[in-house]
Amino acid sequence: MVGSRLQLKKAGREYKACCPFHNEKTASFWVSPEKQFYHCFGCGAHGTVLRFLMEHDRMAFPEAVEELAGRLGLEVPQESGGHPGATRDSERLHDLMSRVAKFYAETLSRDARAHDYLTRRGLTAETITQFGIGYAPDSWNAVLKRFGGSEAERRALADLGLIIERDAGRTTAAAREGDRYYDRFRDRIMFPIRDARGRVIAFGGRVIDRGEPKYLNSPETVLFHKGRELYGLHETRRSRARLERLLVVEGYMDTVRLHQAGIPYAVATLGTSTTPEHFRRIFQLVREVAFAFDGDRAGRAAAWRALQHALPEAREGREIRFLFLPEGQDPDSLVGAEGREAFERRLESTLPLSEYLVRELSEQTDLTHADGRARFAESARPLIAKVPEGVYRELLTARVAAVVGLAAERLQALWAGTGRAAEGAERVSREAANPRPGPAGPGAQGRVSAGRGSLVRQAIARLVGFPSIAGSISAEERTGLDACEEPGIALLRELLDDLRARPVSVPAQVLERWADRSGGEHLGRLLEREEMLGDAEAAALELKAALAKLAGQVIERRLKALEDRSQAGSLSPDELKEFQQLMLRNAGRKA
Ligand code: UTP
Ligand code: MN
Repeated sequence: MVGSRLQLKKAGREYKACCPFHNEKTASFWVSPEKQFYHCFGCGAHGTVLRFLMEHDRMAFPEAVEELAGRLGLEVPQESGGHPGATRDSERLHDLMSRVAKFYAETLSRDARAHDYLTRRGLTAETITQFGIGYAPDSWNAVLKRFGGSEAERRALADLGLIIERDAGRTTAAAREGDRYYDRFRDRIMFPIRDARGRVIAFGGRVIDRGEPKYLNSPETVLFHKGRELYGLHETRRSRARLERLLVVEGYMDTVRLHQAGIPYAVATLGTSTTPEHFRRIFQLVREVAFAFDGDRAGRAAAWRALQHALPEAREGREIRFLFLPEGQDPDSLVGAEGREAFERRLESTLPLSEYLVRELSEQTDLTHADGRARFAESARPLIAKVPEGVYRELLTARVAAVVGLAAERLQALWAGTGRAAEGAERVSREAANPRPGPAGPGAQGRVSAGRGSLVRQAIARLVGFPSIAGSISAEERTGLDACEEPGIALLRELLDDLRARPVSVPAQVLERWADRSGGEHLGRLLEREEMLGDAEAAALELKAALAKLAGQVIERRLKALEDRSQAGSLSPDELKEFQQLMLRNAGRKA
């Protein structure tokens, strides 16, 4: 497993190699097949084989399990659907796909015209190999003849969308059996679409130079659901780069060209808008995603659609940004013209979702008049309603309120006044449809705890109920509480510091530790009264949200004080500096 990716040398009962997690010339990476464990004495990376797959190939846990099981010849029980033969069937289909991909790749290497085309488009031989790009010959039956010897094989090819069955009505009785089908992809450059494990599951085929449609894609098949896949994600995972963000572009060529230029975090959606499944995959890997759009009308329309899909996914801890390219350029042409550094500089000035939303809406209305500002607020309302309840939604509301010149509470009250009936009805139907607090996301959890006492109380309750989540709190999140003066904050700070320094995993251990400390019985009562709904993951998100809110209040209060002093003309140079820094931090927090 590990061995198939590294050059391992035997050393006694163990093996060693150069560590894949840091740069080194002498081998300090040890693998113990017996313990299914690895350790690097150089950088300290260690873990199980599963961890290895997750870190080295950036797989999500379920994918890593499946991959490992696949290597060991085991079957992973599927959650639903699927019959006993399903695994063997899909194995057969995967195998067929990979043989066809190989055929296309070989055809490319023999076809000067197709090869020249890719060279003209700036692709190197290395990139062509890395992405497995190929060429489907100009023939109605090249794939059919080569891979469709039996009816079963033809059925499989048709199921995979590689060949198409002729219209029954148009087939004459005289048509021979083999003529019932023809190749879907003819005379096209073939981009294999791979799943997370690198298996080819579909193709995108581009015409060479002219013709319609420009790109022909595999249909949805048992292996391929386009709303689920991101083109290039497999290659992104295999790149050794440290990932800070993903860049979502629109095209195959954009992705390939960006990777080639040294931007391995580029992926593309496959002719669809970003789906919730896409977002799930993206935020499993990184906390920031930027969407690139052409500067033209079509690009802006696509960006607005992307925003609509992004709103339900927006929450604290996730950054969703928008990049608008100069008109007439796409990432492919741009990175070709200006190179990686200049292109990456553009990524430094992408628009946060909130600013993009405000910019678009304010372009549609005249904010210098009260009418315009009211219209602005009205058009923002349904958009903000798509954001799950929580800190992010509040910040977005505050941003919109600032644009129309109202206090956030006032704006919310206005919205509630005009929209309460409709919203109430929606909530009732939602809850009727889903009466139990099932595997709800953080948005729904936020609803459960809404109104349950102060932020400090909520934070403490989460910590006592799920003490392990203290470990997910960063030093920065913790120091945000330093200047906080809310009632109960001392206990919250003490709990956080203690549990971060000496983690425990169950509530009883917290109570035990606090048995003769001040606040101990308070914690006990809290635990008794609090229903521990949800799981640690949701609790961690809620705790983070509460801490962010508390830290935000501190900043706001200090800003207000400094602002008053500034207006009174009594701001010292140090205070001015602090003021500017806080403004920046506040803007960053809200972005
Ligand atoms: P574009 O038309 O922007 O093409 O389509 P491109 O990626 O820049 O390709 P080149 O540079 O002309 O080769 C963007 C994406 O939209 C989908 C494809 O996924 C394509 O990469 N598309 C486009 C289709 O599925 N079918 C089409 O006919 C056109
Ligand atoms: Mn292009």
